[in-house]
Amino acid sequence: MDEGRITREGIRIHLPEDFEGMRKAGRVAARILDEVGPLVQPGVTTGALDDFIRTRIQELGVTSATIGYRGYQHASCISVNHVVCHGIPGEKILQDGDILNIDVTVIVEGWFGDTSRMYVAGRAPLKAQRLIQVTHDALMKGIEAVRPGATFGDIGHAIQTHAESHRMSVVRDFCGHGIGKVFHAPPNVLHFGRPGKGPVLEEGMIFTIEPMINLGRPETKILADDWTAVTRDKSLSAQFEHSVGVTADGCEIFTPSEKFFPEFG
Ligand code: MF3
Ligand code: CO
Ligand code: CO
Repeated sequence: MDEGRITREGIRIHLPEDFEGMRKAGRVAARILDEVGPLVQPGVTTGALDDFIRTRIQELGVTSATIGYRGYQHASCISVNHVVCHGIPGEKILQDGDILNIDVTVIVEGWFGDTSRMYVAGRAPLKAQRLIQVTHDALMKGIEAVRPGATFGDIGHAIQTHAESHRMSVVRDFCGHGIGKVFHAPPNVLHFGRPGKGPVLEEGMIFTIEPMINLGRPETKILADDWTAVTRDKSLSAQFEHSVGVTADGCEIFTPSEKFFPEFG
């Protein structure tokens, strides 16, 4: 069977049937993010949210991509307030006004669906709501740049321009990635860049776009647990992630929310 080809940058060109596999995996991941939403309330621990996600993954008969990945033990990453990404679920109790990213990756029939969204416990301050809205809009502007013949630099530029026009900053230390039958593959999908730079997009490429945007400076550091990334200046950080594929005339989002997402549509 034809397995598709690999570009000189090491990027796999997928086939139409591969898109069907990604659609199934992406929809399961998105559904779990839809379902966890009502549980995000002040007083709940991030560990309880992760327990729910782990249970739903089991009930849906799919596999968590993160449990056992490089020693990671959880079904999600939950990154609260100034945590940029890779927050470890645990005893932390959500407080009114906390903002958090929940990131879930599942494997369905060998295909990886990777997506994350922002949630609010109770009511967030206006500056936090603005950060969330700008981050979601930045992701969507990056996605709008996806089409054959565009470059990865075009995607990064669209995201960076939007974030910086609101005087927010783009995290440089983490990026999106190729995905498919593996969790992380080439290329590194940078969330900043210059138009026309980087590899040229081709129909059949599949990757994530997952910008992390900070209210303050872009620098991050990793805590002693070797996972949790935080802003160095302790400013709030937000992130949204979709898994997408390049089509003949643009892009398909594999991880859409089934529900209308009123806060950050
Ligand atoms: N889902 C994350 C990503 O977007 C990766 C999480 S790896 C983990 O690439 F081990 F921290 F879960
Ligand atoms: Co990802
Ligand atoms: Co992810």
